[in-house]
Amino acid sequence: MRLLITGSRGQLGNELIEILRSGTSEIGAVPAVYAGAEITGVDVDTLDIADIGAVSDFADGKNFDLIINCAAMTNVDACESDCETAMKVNAIGARNMASAAERRNAKLVHVSTDYVFDGRAATPYREWDSPAPATVYGKSKLLGERYVRETCRRSFIVRTAWLYGSAGNNFVRTILKLAAEKDRIKVVDDQIGNPTNANDLAHHILRIAAGDGYGVYHCTGEGICSWYDFAAEIVRLSGLSCEVEPCSTEEFPRPAPRPAYSAMDRLMLRTTGADEMRPWREALEAFMKSGKVK
Ligand SMILES: NC(=O)c1ccc[n+]([C@@H]2O[C@H](COP(=O)([O-])OP(=O)(O)OC[C@H]3O[C@@H](n4cnc5c(N)ncnc54)[C@H](OP(=O)(O)O)[C@@H]3O)[C@@H](O)[C@H]2O)c1
Repeated sequence: MRLLITGSRGQLGNELIEILRSGTSEIGAVPAVYAGAEITGVDVDTLDIADIGAVSDFADGKNFDLIINCAAMTNVDACESDCETAMKVNAIGARNMASAAERRNAKLVHVSTDYVFDGRAATPYREWDSPAPATVYGKSKLLGERYVRETCRRSFIVRTAWLYGSAGNNFVRTILKLAAEKDRIKVVDDQIGNPTNANDLAHHILRIAAGDGYGVYHCTGEGICSWYDFAAEIVRLSGLSCEVEPCSTEEFPRPAPRPAYSAMDRLMLRTTGADEMRPWREALEAFMKSGKVK
């Protein structure tokens, strides 16, 4: 099998490559179909997914069987002030990878986000719920999803949220840094979601992509919490003495509005018998004990 992973230096891309190379995730073995796979990881310096010519030149001669598109402009505030780059990477880039996969009759996994929803729900979003993004990031990612569906027959769209992993910046690292520097930190308790360990997500992506169950999947950690709950657990597990105090979103205005409620239900994973996402506290503890948090 020939596999292309874009955004390979990012949190998810890096995790996918690690577990493919080691043959196992923290949850279990990588499916046998990937044994001996030829893995190509690219990031923006080697393949700019927004450049259609570069994508064809790169992918067309290589006979990839599976493309996993983890590349994205993920800074939601930067997307708000630079909608052209958000459009190029998150929508056009997704389309370019979908065309490349379709030309080879390859499979494509495209990773998307809770930000496609408006954040006004009171119960977890299901795959059949109508997206209504409120931010440039969410709009660009939703257009990317649509392009993927329209362009590539053998595609999986996997939506995740509140992701943390060993590469790149994330909430866990930010809180650990702040907690080491300060006696007290304030974290919003009126935004609700599902923390997701990139190792668990990578495991599920490989499982899903090994079959032919095309469609939209929600894939987030089990259980719902606020950013405050998440931060308090990070600090507790770290043993640092910093006090975590709840506050409201109004105290932390940001250029891109944050969804108040972005929890997702993994209905598709569950009904296809493929849901092994760990409870978020358990997955967080495993991450913090893994030595991957530097
Ligand atoms: N992080 C989250 O909490 C979260 C939540 C929901 C969904 N997601 C989705 O999950 C996926 C993976 O996220 P992640 O956290 O792993 O992202 P990440 O750590 O930001 O990694 C994305 C990678 O893509 C690269 N990239 C940016 N523009 C590119 C371009 N034009 N061509 C090729 N590569 C480019 C980035 O490079 P630079 O760093 O140099 O820009 C980075 O290495 C994304 O689709 C994201 O939208 C993430």
